Amino acid sequence: MTRIVVTLSWVLVFTLFSTQIFGQTNNVYLRADSLLKWMTLKEKVGQLNQYNDDWDATGPVTVDPNKAEQVQNGEVGSLLNCVTVQRTRKWQSIAMQSRLKIPLLFGQDVIHGYKTTFPIPLGESCSWDLDAIGRSERVAATEASAAGVHWTFAPMVDITRDPRWGRVMEGSGEDPYLGSLIAAARVKGFQGEHLGETNALMACAKHFAAYGAAVGGRDYNSVDMSGRLLREVYLPPFKAAVDAGVATLMTSFNDINGVPSTGNKELLTQILRKEWGFTGFVVSDWGSVGEMVNHGNVASDYEAALSAINAGCDMDMESRCYRNHLEKLVMEGLVSSAAVDEAVRRILVKKFELGLFEDPYRFCNEERERKALNNPEHTAMAREMARKSIVLLKNENHLLPLSPTLKNIAVIGPMVMAVNQNKGFWDVNVPGVDSNLIVTWWEGISARVSRETRLHYALGCGFDGESRKGFGEALAIAQQADVVLFTMGERRDMSGEARSRSNIGIPGVQEELLELLLKTGKPVVVLISAGRPLVFNYTADHAPAILYTWWLGSEAGNAIADVLFGDYNPSAKLTMTFPRSVGQIPIYYSHFNTGRPAQNDSDRFYRSAYTDLSIHPKYEFGYGLSYTTFRYGNLEINRKQFQKGDVVVVKVTVSNTGSFDGEEIVQLYIRDLVGSISRPVSELKDFAKVSLKKGESKTITFNLDAAKLSFFDQNAKPVLEPGHFAVMVGASSADIRLQDRIELMK
Ligand code: NOJ
Repeated sequence: MTRIVVTLSWVLVFTLFSTQIFGQTNNVYLRADSLLKWMTLKEKVGQLNQYNDDWDATGPVTVDPNKAEQVQNGEVGSLLNCVTVQRTRKWQSIAMQSRLKIPLLFGQDVIHGYKTTFPIPLGESCSWDLDAIGRSERVAATEASAAGVHWTFAPMVDITRDPRWGRVMEGSGEDPYLGSLIAAARVKGFQGEHLGETNALMACAKHFAAYGAAVGGRDYNSVDMSGRLLREVYLPPFKAAVDAGVATLMTSFNDINGVPSTGNKELLTQILRKEWGFTGFVVSDWGSVGEMVNHGNVASDYEAALSAINAGCDMDMESRCYRNHLEKLVMEGLVSSAAVDEAVRRILVKKFELGLFEDPYRFCNEERERKALNNPEHTAMAREMARKSIVLLKNENHLLPLSPTLKNIAVIGPMVMAVNQNKGFWDVNVPGVDSNLIVTWWEGISARVSRETRLHYALGCGFDGESRKGFGEALAIAQQADVVLFTMGERRDMSGEARSRSNIGIPGVQEELLELLLKTGKPVVVLISAGRPLVFNYTADHAPAILYTWWLGSEAGNAIADVLFGDYNPSAKLTMTFPRSVGQIPIYYSHFNTGRPAQNDSDRFYRSAYTDLSIHPKYEFGYGLSYTTFRYGNLEINRKQFQKGDVVVVKVTVSNTGSFDGEEIVQLYIRDLVGSISRPVSELKDFAKVSLKKGESKTITFNLDAAKLSFFDQNAKPVLEPGHFAVMVGASSADIRLQDRIELMK
């Protein structure tokens, strides 16, 4: 009898959430609800539990010998660091042996490409090219989803204003307006048309929130911040990601004003769900539920689980606090069954949306994996993105571009022959795929120069260390050369998670070698690879030409050659301010004016800066050169006085006045001249990347509306105040070419 009842129940379960029934209605919420009714509390908690697979680790691993058994018992909802069709299939087939056969979700840090590696996100952000950024994420999603991955822990949308923080390399820089647009472009790129397509990857906006404001740029550090600043600067990219339909968010490691994000109800429920209407699910960062004990907000893992689930953190990555304590918390009445059901429902809904209940192996197709990982279009996209990310910082006497027919070129430095360095931090360790897919700088340059050109190589020195053994050889080849290309910068593990540095100068003896190379009298082009803005005053002041290349990914060598020899005219502009010294940090363009604003370097009293340093950064936000020059003219504003509902249209004509075709990133800033609270001296509100042939002019149109002119007041409430605004159009935040005023009428 019992047997018949059990069998009948199974039939019912499967008709309730199987394809036959729901293939017709396809209401993922109904399906999730039906499934929930059949789940035990233990199985529900299982869905909220995420483990690391064992082949790679991106955090402190907890050894857990019986993971497979737990998956088989339905006690795990998701695995991270599990890639390839072969491996995901293996784990999924174990999950399929569980009572309810709920498929696993496979998550992975696909931060800047899967197999085809793109420039680090900070580099890509310098392209200001939303379309290209979106397309590069499409490639990443196509490859990762073909390799069994359902979910990427990207984009990182933290605003970053402190280059000591190693994770600046993962974000889009310092500006909330640009950061929001890039966040949305990345989410759309990853997720494609809609979840459920086999090439769509669930995105995850992280780290919610304010992780980028860690005190002193020390990773995982605390954040102390007003609600106004949080809303105005740090939250907008998350809101943009939510508006773009992001499937998930990840909490951050830091506390904000003493409350760890993972247990922060104000953030996870009030702002995210109630105000923004987010319907996806929230995952903790690695171990961050349990780390609340270290923060000192809770006394035990038990209390940590209580705090996190009640705050609105749905999935526990690797801390095991939910697994070990949630059942008890429910049974003791401290956590409601409804709260657990809600978290589980959010996760199940995504599994239904992905189509995993129809076919848990739908992302496990070897043929698709093979094709996706060997697609020349992906390589072409990586090259496009890489050259668009290179910033030309200096180019005295038009040293660049070089002629590919030069007779002798010396190529010196630690990056020339490097392979994996090009991947930067956060590359995916794809088994079976290796460094042979990366075009080194040497290969890229060799492929581009003429048959008659002789390339000479010397290492010169390493990225760090004190060895000067290679100096002699480097100087010898420099002496013979028409031009010297000198590569310097950071090793790829110097910027990234847990890679904060108190000294962000060029490491080792690299600048010392540069000094000697410059003394040869040969023209030296310096190429700097790094994951953050570095301090390199000697180089900046003495080298005649400088390209800031970040870490460019698979096609690095080709992209470098494209730019060096003028097949691509650099167009990127900085998205983070470059300081003159560590002591100048934090430094960002959108600061307040203060009561004694510094106007120049000699003011004695009006000097809200340092006496031993210029008031200016080394390179400002929005800065970047081209091989050509651009003239700005004809600023037109359709209405200088306007009402609340009006759109102010600003037009400007930009002309290419140099001798190369090129692209210019034209930037529109405003300043709210008088506000009930002080307003920044400058705020980016629009931009256009315009392509102009030699001699060509184009008129660009910008729009300013109420949303762009409002701000958060003292109580963190949005307000739009009547009054005057300066409208400034320029080539960078400091290079304003045209300006006028508009007035919002009462
Ligand atoms: C910790 C990092 O902070 C987060 O960004 C990453 O996604 C997880 N580890 C998983 O690797």
